[in-house]
Amino acid sequence: MPTTNHYIGLMSGTSLDGIDAALVDFSNSSCRLVHATSRELPAQLRAELLALTQPGDNEIERLGRTDITFARLQADLVRQLLTAADIPHSAVAAIGSHGQTIRHRPCQDPAFTIQLGDPNCLAELSGIDVVADFRRRDIAAGGQGAPLVPAFHAQCFRSTSIDRAILNLGGVANITLLPKAPTDVVSGFDTGPANVLMDAWSQRHLNQPFDRNGSWAERGRIVPELLQRLLSEGYFIEPAPKSTGRELFHIGWVDHHLDQLETIPEPQDVQATLLELTATSVAAELRRHPLPIKELYLCGGGAHNLALVKRLSHHLPQLRIASTERLGLHPDWVEAIAFAWLAKRFVDRQPGNLPAVTGASGPRILGTLSPAGLNH
Ligand SMILES: Nc1ncnc2c1ncn2[C@@H]1O[C@H](COP(=O)(O)OP(=O)(O)OP(=O)(O)O)[C@@H](O)[C@H]1O
Ligand SMILES: [Mg+2]
Repeated sequence: MPTTNHYIGLMSGTSLDGIDAALVDFSNSSCRLVHATSRELPAQLRAELLALTQPGDNEIERLGRTDITFARLQADLVRQLLTAADIPHSAVAAIGSHGQTIRHRPCQDPAFTIQLGDPNCLAELSGIDVVADFRRRDIAAGGQGAPLVPAFHAQCFRSTSIDRAILNLGGVANITLLPKAPTDVVSGFDTGPANVLMDAWSQRHLNQPFDRNGSWAERGRIVPELLQRLLSEGYFIEPAPKSTGRELFHIGWVDHHLDQLETIPEPQDVQATLLELTATSVAAELRRHPLPIKELYLCGGGAHNLALVKRLSHHLPQLRIASTERLGLHPDWVEAIAFAWLAKRFVDRQPGNLPAVTGASGPRILGTLSPAGLNH
């Protein structure tokens, strides 16, 4: 058993915006964020990762190189985090490293998911035990391998007096439904795109990685015919368990639907429609779900998109909507904290998945261990 309750979580999601790092103290069954920081991905690394999300030439060579480059960046971020927190690496029990997903195909046979960021390299450079590769065990047990954060949401945000939901607005949106009745099961799934399409559209037309506060989208007008076409995607009505990523929701998918329209809309109207797609698809899932949710708490970068929050409120007027800050965790760090928690679950030999969420055949201890070097 480790002598410390400090864990580091490293998260880098579908947006490919950067790596988030959180140092967390889990002493006395609490979850206290000690320090957090993030690092943007250098443009070349981002381009290499983005290219690896789609089939292409010479993939194995590019994958091998990027796996190490990414791990080195993770190690550098860990060093920066520990320096800022003024804590030695020996005071950290383990790092929980999500890695960067480059392919997620949970529904094909054989199903697989791949995250880069070599944990051996990270353990060697950081001198800390690294738990990584969380998703593949769940997939091996017949699950989607995603979403994995609902178990943490349940641990941290569940109330016994009110039915609530947590909505993470990353590249993809995932929701966790937390019934107040302790015997009712927690559910959760990816609802579809959150920012990934808006980001790509903003990059193409504004040369900006994202639409700050959704202000460009807010100036546009929703194009009903386009919205309808986008919403006709089968994923949106599939029952859970389900998870998705860039394999389905990428800019080519938007282009394909635009090509079917008689007149091409203005770019800002397309952005407004993409924002509406996120809001409508989330709202539809919440309405369809039998649990009478009263409160919705937002986390992930999309929680800063004011225009998106407004549209969510418009579609879900009966809900109290706030950020997870109201529950004590800043929305920017919830996912990274969740991976610190998943590392702790591994160290404690406790399951990290919720079979009702992922569809796995049972609870599983998630992750594999790359131990720190002996001379550290
Ligand atoms: N001020 C802001 N206004 C609008 N959007 C924002 C703002 N700040 C961040 N974002 C959006 O949040 C995204 C990053 O969010 P986040 O890091 O939570 O996603 P992620 O890395 O894809 O994680 P995951 O998919 O695993 O949840 C950015 O790409 C951007 O679209
Ligand atoms: Mg991110």
